[in-house]
Amino acid sequence: MRHFLDLTEIEAAELRSILDTASAMKAGRDTNRPLEGKTLAMIFEKPSTRTRVSFEVAANQLGGRAIVLSARDMQLGRGETVADTAAVLSRFVDAIMIRTDSHEKLEEMARHATVPVVNGLTDRSHPCQIMADVMTFEEKKGPIAGRRIAYVGDAANNVAASLIHAAARFGFTFALGCPPELRPEPALLQWARERQGRIEVTDDPAAAVAGADAVIADTWVSMGDADADRRHALLEPYRVDEALMRGADEAAIFLHCLPAHRGEEVTAEVIDGPRSAVFDEAENRLHAQKAVLAWCLGR
Ligand code: CP
Ligand code: NVA
Repeated sequence: MRHFLDLTEIEAAELRSILDTASAMKAGRDTNRPLEGKTLAMIFEKPSTRTRVSFEVAANQLGGRAIVLSARDMQLGRGETVADTAAVLSRFVDAIMIRTDSHEKLEEMARHATVPVVNGLTDRSHPCQIMADVMTFEEKKGPIAGRRIAYVGDAANNVAASLIHAAARFGFTFALGCPPELRPEPALLQWARERQGRIEVTDDPAAAVAGADAVIADTWVSMGDADADRRHALLEPYRVDEALMRGADEAAIFLHCLPAHRGEEVTAEVIDGPRSAVFDEAENRLHAQKAVLAWCLGR
């Protein structure tokens, strides 16, 4: 059994094998049902549409079932420890997915669980999303290694962090265009650069996007961010619009993990336009997570 906590914890070859499985499952070439008779528990401390539905459908399609738990309705929400919750759930279910605020809670869950724990988003990272992003890019444009991927907006959030991890793991150049106040943590950049990750950080969105094979945006205000007004003011120059997209490669695609805010981080013209792959990206959450679950359970 293996946890899926972060792209930093899993070697490149393993991540590649998960994506291979995901593609084979999507194409119907892999019809294994490693969750047959098994149960996945999902704990949500934050809202979710895609993660919740894609994991539940993934569990069903792999022969198992899922239980959706809102932390609010659990004893966890009244002070039962993460450790006790992990130990108890491990006696009932075969895998645990958790979406929570602090990354430490996810790690504590993994330390005390005797079944695989999957990161369904924390304040620090969103690795399942980025597996689906890499899968989507490669379906549309071929191998991601050596390509240029741009991200424009809040470069200090969970999605940007997992993309930085992915740049090192999958070997793409990653250019972040962001205000100086919302740059990635220096330790994160150092982690990637120590692993030959090619990461560029600039406050000029056009420089980030120049020649990119994909342009990625995310919400300006993530779940749990309390400073929406400040973020809107800082990020106003970092909207992905047609003019910005013109600076990317002419065959560039646009990705966004969703939910999106049209007119804020991206214009409707871009996200609803011909270069947008956001709904394929959302669909690929299902295929990527089926492969993640199969990997966790030792397939
Ligand atoms: N992209 C993503 O994780 O969506 P949800 O918040 O709807 O799960
Ligand atoms: N950065 C966003 C991603 C949502 C899927 C958030 O954390 O709210």
